[in-house]
Amino acid sequence: MSVNLQLVDLTKKYRDVKALKSVSLELQGNKIIVLLGVNGAGKTTLMRIMAGLEDSDSGQILFNNQNTEPKALRRVSTLVFQKTAMFTMNVYGNLAFGLKIRKVPREEIPKRVEEALQAVRLPEFEKRRAKRLSGGEQQRIALARAFLLDSHVLLLDEPTANLDPNSAIIIEKAIISKKSSQRVIVMATHNLNQARRMADEIVHIHNGEIVEIAKPADFFENPKSEITRKFINGELDF
Ligand SMILES: Nc1ncnc2c1ncn2[C@@H]1O[C@H](COP(=O)(O)OP(=O)(O)O)[C@@H](O)[C@H]1O
Ligand SMILES: [Mg+2]
Repeated sequence: MSVNLQLVDLTKKYRDVKALKSVSLELQGNKIIVLLGVNGAGKTTLMRIMAGLEDSDSGQILFNNQNTEPKALRRVSTLVFQKTAMFTMNVYGNLAFGLKIRKVPREEIPKRVEEALQAVRLPEFEKRRAKRLSGGEQQRIALARAFLLDSHVLLLDEPTANLDPNSAIIIEKAIISKKSSQRVIVMATHNLNQARRMADEIVHIHNGEIVEIAKPADFFENPKSEITRKFINGELDF
């Protein structure tokens, strides 16, 4: 059985801005769901609510068919932020930190750190000072840190924004390698090409509303929504 996450009628307002207007979506494991949309569409807001870092004004989230409050969502999900901060420690310390908090047996930690570094193609980086690494390398360490937590819900908010193409491709491949029936993966991006490369399913969000849900081939060749058609053709004036 695959894990599943169900979003039901989520709304969120910031003063007079309706960031989410009745968003409903069903998400399953073994897939990469790409949340695609222009700046201000509501991607980060939705990711933060799915991560349990923020509460919606109304609506529900079900994890494996059970209504789930933010606190419980925080236990099953991990969100990688667009901008990540490294601790003033070496790479090993940055990666081992979360495992120690989760009381993973001490003797298991070095091996798990090594595997996570392999996944992001930074083997033998344990002793490097995290804050001295390049932006692309730091983002890969942030990804490794998230992978180590092995959460059922892995949320990635524009993980390759502002990175060079080489780092971006490494990150994309590392994310794809994490597909599992026991994991729901959602990645936010505004990059159409990235969505085409990575998505099993594209969810187009615009002005806080889902306007299209489709597999990449249908999304690009046969979009049903006018907004999606404009977005693909670069005609969307925000
Ligand atoms: N903390 C906040 N306070 C006020 N407005 C916010 C806040 N967070 C987001 N917004 C607004 O909500 C809308 C959606 O933002 P966001 O979810 O960050 O979009 P995206 O990640 O797609 O760029 C935007 O209009 C944004 O300005
Ligand atoms: Mg955002």
